[in-house]
Amino acid sequence: MKIRLTVNGEPREADVWAGESLLTSLRDTLELPGSKNACEQGECGSCSVLLDGDLVCACLVLAAQADGHEVTTVEGLRDDQGLHKVQRAFVEAGAVQCGFCTPGLVVATAALLERHPSPSEDVIREELSGNLCRCTGYAKIFDAVRLAAGS
Ligand code: FES
Ligand code: FES
Repeated sequence: MKIRLTVNGEPREADVWAGESLLTSLRDTLELPGSKNACEQGECGSCSVLLDGDLVCACLVLAAQADGHEVTTVEGLRDDQGLHKVQRAFVEAGAVQCGFCTPGLVVATAALLERHPSPSEDVIREELSGNLCRCTGYAKIFDAVRLAAGS
């Protein structure tokens, strides 16, 4: 089946099969490999994207469900001025090791700061609890969130 959706502000089309995930369509058909596939079970948040502005795990959304909707991936956060403030903060805080969790955490943090521009420590931990990192111990990730919130 053919779906039409807006991805990172651009109209896109994709041929998908009925059971195909949005994550697979983004990575394999729409050539946007930023969203990572780490568990494919909704457990890790590595595939986090915005669907009509709401944070979702792209591995749990059918591509067909995105038909007619707007998707923003980590690639779409930057603009003509350059990297999104969250992307800059992750670099500046050294919040990246292997980087596999980073795209999902960046998208989740951008969504968090939309809802909570000055988040408390508890809010940061709660809102990012669905994004797992196997490398950093989270301290530098939380530093990056605070840095982005202050910028
Ligand atoms: S790959 Fe989607 S939640 Fe882990
Ligand atoms: S930096 Fe490796 S999983 Fe987070």
